[in-house]
Amino acid sequence: MKQKIVIGNWKNYLDVHETLELATKISNEEIQDNIKLMISPCNLYLNKVNQILKETSVEVIGQNITSYESSSDTGGVTAIGLKNIGVNRSIIGHSEVRKRNKTFKSEDILKQIIPAKFNFVLCFETIEQIPFNILNNDFEIILAYEPVWAIGTGETASIEHINEIHSLVKAELLGLNLEIPVLYGGSVNPNNSNEILTQELVDGVLVGGASTKYEDLHKIINSI
Ligand code: 13P
Repeated sequence: MKQKIVIGNWKNYLDVHETLELATKISNEEIQDNIKLMISPCNLYLNKVNQILKETSVEVIGQNITSYESSSDTGGVTAIGLKNIGVNRSIIGHSEVRKRNKTFKSEDILKQIIPAKFNFVLCFETIEQIPFNILNNDFEIILAYEPVWAIGTGETASIEHINEIHSLVKAELLGLNLEIPVLYGGSVNPNNSNEILTQELVDGVLVGGASTKYEDLHKIINSI
């Protein structure tokens, strides 16, 4: 089986002590070659977590990038800012961001990060939210299907539903000659990770709550 991607999105669940403790445990974890693990801590602790994990195969990534290009965007996190601290990828377009920002358009962020060749994980709830026309193979793009009703609810999408959406997206990508992994996110846990990760059409999982508990994360990354 090809390598699968597991991304732990820690959102704002953990305080500084919990974050550093979990990052330290992960730094001692033996990760099999069939898994590429990425961790997305709260932006406040990104630099510190990146230092803890820098000698490992785990990639530390951002949770969001500002839609505004301007360096006068108070409170905004830019692709350049993340690059400065050695972080080369971020989640963008998470449904929790789209909910706060009703005018959110992936294109606004992609305008600044595509020229910067900054890697990203674009979350989508509907296929219409994927700007296929501006995606390319020049740098690493990951797509993540996250149905909003499955996020943090314990209600995982059925395997049939996941496969249906992934096959539609993959058909579009194939038509455009794009090689882009498509992940699933929404109530992934140690009990369902094997079934989801072993689907041919699923290139990995984006995990929220379960990734903040060491035992659960350990089981998920060892479930295949
Ligand atoms: P849960 O795994 O907690 O449902 O969160 C999913 C998610 O939003 C990951 O980005």
